[in-house]
Amino acid sequence: MTDNTIIRFNSVTKKYDNDPPVLKNVSFEIERGKFYTLLGPSGCGKTTILRLIAGFTEPSEGDIYFNGRVINNVPANKRQVNTVFQDYALFPHLNVFENIAFGLKIKKMKKADIERKVKEALRFVNLEGYENREIKEMSGGQRQRVAIARAIVNEPEVILLDEPLSALDLKLRTEMQYELRELQRNLGITFIFVTHDQEEALAMSDEIFVLNNGKIEQSGTPTDIYDEPINRFVADFIGESNIVPGTMIKDYQVQFAGKLFECVDGGFEPNEDVEIVIRPEDLAITAPADGKLNVKVDSQLFRGVHYEISCYDSDGNEWLVHSTKKATVGDQIGLYFDPEAIHVMRHGETEEEFDKRLEAYEEGSYEN
Ligand SMILES: Nc1ncnc2c1ncn2[C@@H]1O[C@H](COP(=O)(O)OP(=O)(O)O)[C@@H](O)[C@H]1O
Ligand SMILES: [Mg+2]
Repeated sequence: MTDNTIIRFNSVTKKYDNDPPVLKNVSFEIERGKFYTLLGPSGCGKTTILRLIAGFTEPSEGDIYFNGRVINNVPANKRQVNTVFQDYALFPHLNVFENIAFGLKIKKMKKADIERKVKEALRFVNLEGYENREIKEMSGGQRQRVAIARAIVNEPEVILLDEPLSALDLKLRTEMQYELRELQRNLGITFIFVTHDQEEALAMSDEIFVLNNGKIEQSGTPTDIYDEPINRFVADFIGESNIVPGTMIKDYQVQFAGKLFECVDGGFEPNEDVEIVIRPEDLAITAPADGKLNVKVDSQLFRGVHYEISCYDSDGNEWLVHSTKKATVGDQIGLYFDPEAIHVMRHGETEEEFDKRLEAYEEGSYEN
């Protein structure tokens, strides 16, 4: 734990009644001033983590720390945290000003101070001059901004955002992603953002926690997670991937699709069964003689920027290729890729074991 740690989960388990736990031994740290994303499919426990941080529910086991103090039983209204809910939860009978001022009035803040703070919050979310509008007169994107203004006006240390953009159409959503990221940078407040959309997570976050079935599968920066997924679930969930079975012959040498390849991974047992990930954009189409793999083109779709080409090798593995070059269905072609494009995953490896292995073989290769 560093001085910068604001929230820490220590082996937190959450159960409802006699059902299997919805969070299992979850541990993580959140640092001050960063943008975090909890990413995972519906039902994996994202909202439950936010509710635990906000104080709307308590852990069944384990401890939650805030600024170094255990807060398991601290009521929600005593926490330095505000939530932006998925449905915004604005008060429909109050106007924009009254919605944003609500929490400050409860705190019995002076009228002049409330007015100043609401104005400032509206300026932050680009809604200057909207004080007297009724909520029903606001568009979806504007309501979203009011909900955010209502959270930031309290100057919390942490803002929790539960799928706040999921109700917006694609264009507005992309705009709001950009705005939210800017807002977080300008305010310097810690944001914990929930989404099931991997592109959104990759675009916005300093750190991503990938969740599956009540557990964190992997945490790291967007590039860490995209470039080095530690297992099939993460590789599959974060972007499109080719995942094929392989054998790690020795350090830096792997076999798959019936051939030997140079790679950059190590730290496995000799001849260990592994899974190989290669991203579709890391495969280049060549003449059959120039490729590292020979495949047959099965189908092709134009995706606007690139063609998405599906091919099969002679072992029956499917290879998805993203290429600006067009291919011809039925043709035999070559696929070229760099050793760095091959990511090797160990079956059932946890994040902790992965980090240890990486450290060990990086130290080893440094000495050579
Ligand atoms: N109050 C509750 N009582 C019983 N089960 C719940 C309750 N809240 C959530 N769950 C269950 O916990 C699991 C995780 O839910 P949730 O955290 O809302 O997932 P997510 O936000 O990732 O979609 C789900 O299986 C859900 O049905
Ligand atoms: Mg949820």
